[in-house]
Amino acid sequence: MMKSLLKLTITTSMLTTMTMAGGYTQGDRILDMQKMAQAMQDIQSGFFYNNEDIVKAGVKDLKETIVKIRPIDAEVNNKDIYEKWLNNDLKMTNKIQKKIVQKLEDIDERFSDGDAVQALQAYSKIASQCMKCHVRLRKW
Ligand code: HEC
Repeated sequence: MMKSLLKLTITTSMLTTMTMAGGYTQGDRILDMQKMAQAMQDIQSGFFYNNEDIVKAGVKDLKETIVKIRPIDAEVNNKDIYEKWLNNDLKMTNKIQKKIVQKLEDIDERFSDGDAVQALQAYSKIASQCMKCHVRLRKW
C-alpha cells in the first residue's frame, strides 16, 4: 500500500516536471478549447435527447481536457506574462479546473438519478466558469 502510494507520487511529480518543460503551443490550447466547447454541446444534447450515454461521453471528454489547460510556451518564455500567471492566473486556473471537475461529477450523478434540473444547474455553473477565465485571461 505505502509502496504503491510512493510510486504514484513519484510518477506524478515526474509527469508534472515533464509537462512544465513545455511543448504546449497556442495551437494545442485552441484545439483543447474547441474540444471543450464540443463536449459542452454534447452534454447539452444529451440533456435534450434524454440520453445518458451522450451526457457521460461529454462529461468524460471535458474532464480529460480541462486539466490540460495551462500557459503555452510563448507565455512561459515571456517573463512578464509568466510572472503574472504564477502570481494570479495560475491560482485562478487551478481553482476553475477543480470546480469544473466537481460540477462534472454532479452532472453525472444527478442526471443518472433522473434529476435533470440539478444537472442543468451544474452545467450552467460550468459555463460560467469558462466565461470567468475568458473575461479575465483572454487578453493574454
Ligand atoms: C484558464 C483559462 C480558460 C478556461 C478555464 C477556459 N478557457 Fe477557453 N480560452 C482561453 C483562452 C486563453 C483562449 C484563447 C486561445 C487562443 O486564441 O490562443 C480561449 C479560447 C476558447 C475558444 C475559442 C477557440 C478558437 O477556435 O479560437 C473556445 C471555443 C473556448 N475557449 C471554449 C471554452 C470552454 C467551453 C471552456 C469551459 C469548459 C473554456 N473555454 C475554459 C482560456 C480559458
